[in-house]
Amino acid sequence: MNKVNFNRATVDVGNILAMEHVNVTVPDQPLATLFYVNVLGFTRDPYMDFGPSNVWVNVGRQQFHLPTADAQVLRGHVGVVVPDLKSLLVRLQKIGKRLKGTQFTFTERKNHLDITCPWGNHIRCFSPGSFGKSQLGIPYIELHVPADAAPGISRFYEQVMGCRTNLNKTKKQCEVLIGKEQFIRFKETRKPTAFYDGHHIAVYVANFSGPHRYLKDNNLITEESDQNQYRFQTIVDPNNGTVLFDIEHEVRSLHHPMYERHLINRNAEQGFFNYQDGRDAFTPQKVL
Ligand SMILES: [Fe+2]
Repeated sequence: MNKVNFNRATVDVGNILAMEHVNVTVPDQPLATLFYVNVLGFTRDPYMDFGPSNVWVNVGRQQFHLPTADAQVLRGHVGVVVPDLKSLLVRLQKIGKRLKGTQFTFTERKNHLDITCPWGNHIRCFSPGSFGKSQLGIPYIELHVPADAAPGISRFYEQVMGCRTNLNKTKKQCEVLIGKEQFIRFKETRKPTAFYDGHHIAVYVANFSGPHRYLKDNNLITEESDQNQYRFQTIVDPNNGTVLFDIEHEVRSLHHPMYERHLINRNAEQGFFNYQDGRDAFTPQKVL
């Protein structure tokens, strides 16, 4: 018999199994498509097509949803893994010129690229291997929250949502673990928190009714969308009901028709002048 003492708890997974999309409205679809598809190298969802009123952009198993309206800006940044950071840099330098006159900017860091979209959303791009096995995807979002909010946020996600969380030693940062290799990081800031403009995230949960019961009892449900989806916006401290932060969550059950939907991703290296037959689709590279 094997006498190794395995720590089984290290591979437990909390109640939120996936963060599927980040939704920020954009005022100009062609410009948004130029940024998210042409510059960042992601893929316009070929099946869910809304015409000029919305565009869904696939990033591995995650998406950006970009309905047309006045710009919304996430209060923090979106962490993204791209297949090739070097070729992203080339596209930022070349195609990025067409975004002159907007808030678009980018900065090379030691192991990532900090990019600002034309309307001020911050996106941090990493190489494959930075977050588990992901070679293309949205492994995390970081949200900037008011001072002293992190411990209560940790309690909310543990006690209400049924997640595992990591509160750091200073208790000023809390990471909510999602599925095998995603997370939401809530980081305290002393700067005044920006006005919440209604952007949202979508998550899938195993226990759908448990969080709903608490949220309903505390008047926190903002939308009863359908049998497999509800929404809430305000994160409160379950100890005393103190309001801590606002970000709308689209909460979906595993019976939602779009759970684990197969998303099409292209190979952003393909171009008119370097076209290679049979290499149109994104294919994960062999892990050495
Ligand atoms: Fe959504």
